[in-house]
Amino acid sequence: MKMLVVLGSPRKGGNGETLAGKVAEMVAQGGGTVDYIRLNDLNIRPCQGCGGCEKTGNCVIKDDMTAIYQAADAADRILLVSPVYFYGLSAQCKIFGDRMQARWSRKYLLHERFRQSEGRRGYLLSTAATVGPKIFDCSLLTARYIYDAMDVEYGGELLVKGVDKRKAVLEVPDEMVRAEQFGRDIVEGCI
Ligand SMILES: Cc1cc2nc3c(=O)[nH]c(=O)nc-3n(C[C@H](O)[C@H](O)[C@H](O)COP(=O)(O)O)c2cc1C
Repeated sequence: MKMLVVLGSPRKGGNGETLAGKVAEMVAQGGGTVDYIRLNDLNIRPCQGCGGCEKTGNCVIKDDMTAIYQAADAADRILLVSPVYFYGLSAQCKIFGDRMQARWSRKYLLHERFRQSEGRRGYLLSTAATVGPKIFDCSLLTARYIYDAMDVEYGGELLVKGVDKRKAVLEVPDEMVRAEQFGRDIVEGCI
């Protein structure tokens, strides 16, 4: 199993990354390989809505997203890791998702399916400072739609509320255990 972890927070070693590390550890222990992409370190322009991808299924912008498309296409499992920023995904994740418009075009306009029968799956890992019941609603909807465009089945989510400062999640051992279990569930194919 080849897993791609897409780190969408600008904060290195933050809550999402700490939890993702635990998930990845379990996947590696289960015999999988894990690659990381840190969106904030890359040069990725926002989608320009030019419609170029509608003809070819490929984005006309040549930047670091080119390598991300390749890494995502090669992955069997994708973990998108985002903090909640103003009730949604981080801007870095949103740009990543918007650039998947090229994949949306490939699937829905050009009717080209991609590794459809292989059971590829994508997940959302998100953290938030507050604890309201709707805190992850927007991020969940967006993540599901991104994966649908990518022709990747949505596999589920690991959502952790009430963590704000960097690594605050380490002070909540139950959440780290949950991350461990999430990783195991991925390896065992339960999610
Ligand atoms: C720009 C910005 C916007 C944020 N917006 C929210 C928000 O709407 N709701 C919330 O609960 N937390 C919000 N937070 C807090 C983060 O979601 C929280 O600290 C999260 O655990 C950070 O994850 P990270 O350490 O992986 O970056 C925001 C933080 C920043 C910097």
